[in-house]
Amino acid sequence: MDLPKIKQLAYDLMGSTKSHEWKEIGNKYYHGLRVAILALKLRSYVLPEDDSHDDILTVAAWFHDISNGKENHAVEGAIKAREILAEYCSEYELNEICKIISVHDDRYSDRAMFSDYTKLHQDADHLDHFGTYDVWMEIVYALHHNDTIPEVIEWFQNTSRKYDKQFHAELNYDISKIIYQEKREFLHSFGDRFSVEATGGIWLEDQLLKTYKA
Ligand SMILES: [Fe+2]
Ligand SMILES: [Fe+2]
Repeated sequence: MDLPKIKQLAYDLMGSTKSHEWKEIGNKYYHGLRVAILALKLRSYVLPEDDSHDDILTVAAWFHDISNGKENHAVEGAIKAREILAEYCSEYELNEICKIISVHDDRYSDRAMFSDYTKLHQDADHLDHFGTYDVWMEIVYALHHNDTIPEVIEWFQNTSRKYDKQFHAELNYDISKIIYQEKREFLHSFGDRFSVEATGGIWLEDQLLKTYKA
């Protein structure tokens, strides 16, 4: 596969559009690039000897959310990707790429149904939504929806914690769960600090006072 050409195609299709009105321009293009890098990184830990599908994982990541924003975007996206990529990939590559795209958000079916490559993609896709990206999304969402500071604090303190266990359980590999756990700890710590500073407080005030000499 001619990766530079296919990447340019992804940019032409997604680089200046957005999947939802309130999100930033190019959101699915840049998400795709990050997921591709993450998927290969996870692959190097989970299947260190097997780089046979790295290009397939990369292209699947670039295009997996091509239909995001539509109902059943995974299945629709696989159909669209097959059309778009037809002249750039072999039949085998197309089948593998579209197989990944068509179930990339299926976190409920029996995982024995999925190949390691699909599961690696699923984890990379999921992980990209956490950590600093959580913070970015919440701020972008809040600004577009005219949310107030107390509402954002509420999101950090309660809503953001609601699905911790579920998201953890949805990941396929131990390495993904470890990365997720660290990202969650960062988010909660950021949220705790935001909740203090956004209400006029001083973060770690007691510790700071110990070093203060009047
Ligand atoms: Fe998706
Ligand atoms: Fe995605």
